[in-house]
Amino acid sequence: MSASSTLRVAVIGGDGTGPEVTAEGVKVLKAVAQHEGFPVELKHYDFGGERYLATGEVLPAGALEELRFFPAILLGAIGHPDVPPGILERGLLLELRFKFDQYINLRPVKLYPGVETPIKGKGPEDIDFVVVRENTEDLYCGMGGFLKKGTRDEVAIQTAVYTRKGCERCIRWAFNFTRKRNKKKRLTLVAKTNVLTYGHDLWWRTFQEIAKEYPDIQTDYNHVDACCMWMVKNPEVYDVIVTTNMFGDIITDLAGIIQGGMGVAAGANINPEPGGTSMFEPMGGSAPKYTGTHQINPIACISATAMLLEHTGYEKAASRVMRAIQYVTGHKMKSQAAGKMGYTTQQVGDLVVEALDLPDHQT
Ligand code: IPM
Ligand code: MN
Repeated sequence: MSASSTLRVAVIGGDGTGPEVTAEGVKVLKAVAQHEGFPVELKHYDFGGERYLATGEVLPAGALEELRFFPAILLGAIGHPDVPPGILERGLLLELRFKFDQYINLRPVKLYPGVETPIKGKGPEDIDFVVVRENTEDLYCGMGGFLKKGTRDEVAIQTAVYTRKGCERCIRWAFNFTRKRNKKKRLTLVAKTNVLTYGHDLWWRTFQEIAKEYPDIQTDYNHVDACCMWMVKNPEVYDVIVTTNMFGDIITDLAGIIQGGMGVAAGANINPEPGGTSMFEPMGGSAPKYTGTHQINPIACISATAMLLEHTGYEKAASRVMRAIQYVTGHKMKSQAAGKMGYTTQQVGDLVVEALDLPDHQT
């Protein structure tokens, strides 16, 4: 992809405050595209809880075939109070992750200037790492079943699936990413090899083997429980973490809080292959309580937009957005919590757009 061709993005606002934050992501995307001089083409999709309640389907026929032609999807949030848990998650979010084989879930954990972390004595120089979460296997594959359901003898089985191909491609991507990031050049495998002696043994062996191809990268290993402890005690030890799907889900919520909460935490679901469709999202949920109140923080979605730009080859635009975000958190916003920002959702988006103009040395 070149920076002069049209960037085509599918936008799924989704539920609750989702459309409010994607509106700000889109606002910043359009503004930075104008700055950098490349065209953007957007197509909006109304998938989510409301549509499901009205039609009984989460993704209509043909939706995947259509979305497949976009290099990037910007997703707001899913989750509707009237839809039972699992339907939208499985039918939309996981469906897109799996069908588009978005096998990398990338979650940068960076404390922006001016943002408060609950960890005493730690600042932006201590909290700056990235979690690379495998995104297609493990307990998420939906394999399992019930025996004697509803009786006192009921048995439930939920199977964790790990494949050599699945862990190898994720680990290799994480090594390459650590090299390209060029910071501490340290990659930590997080797993639970002392208990998951089959699946995580496969991960461990694969990690050791691939590490040999990257002598410039220092490797480390943490059990997942110890990782939770270190992340709070000494977050500065981390540079890049690579981990399995389920553990990655859990530790990135902890990581999201230490970087200032769900208002700032963003993630990317990446299919790194040529022609792949990737998806970018704020980590927070649909926040029904704040829907329509203009109080939700769009910074996470704007950060997700920056990741989208970076991934699709518009690196200059991506870093311009990242600088603008950090100017706004550092100089303008009072807090990253919904309702306490000192600005409305739209005003925060406007501030980021304004900050796109600032020369490098002022941001
Ligand atoms: C996330 C979310 C999803 C996950 C849910 C909504 C299915 O928690 O992106 O981390 O578990 O992966
Ligand atoms: Mn999660």
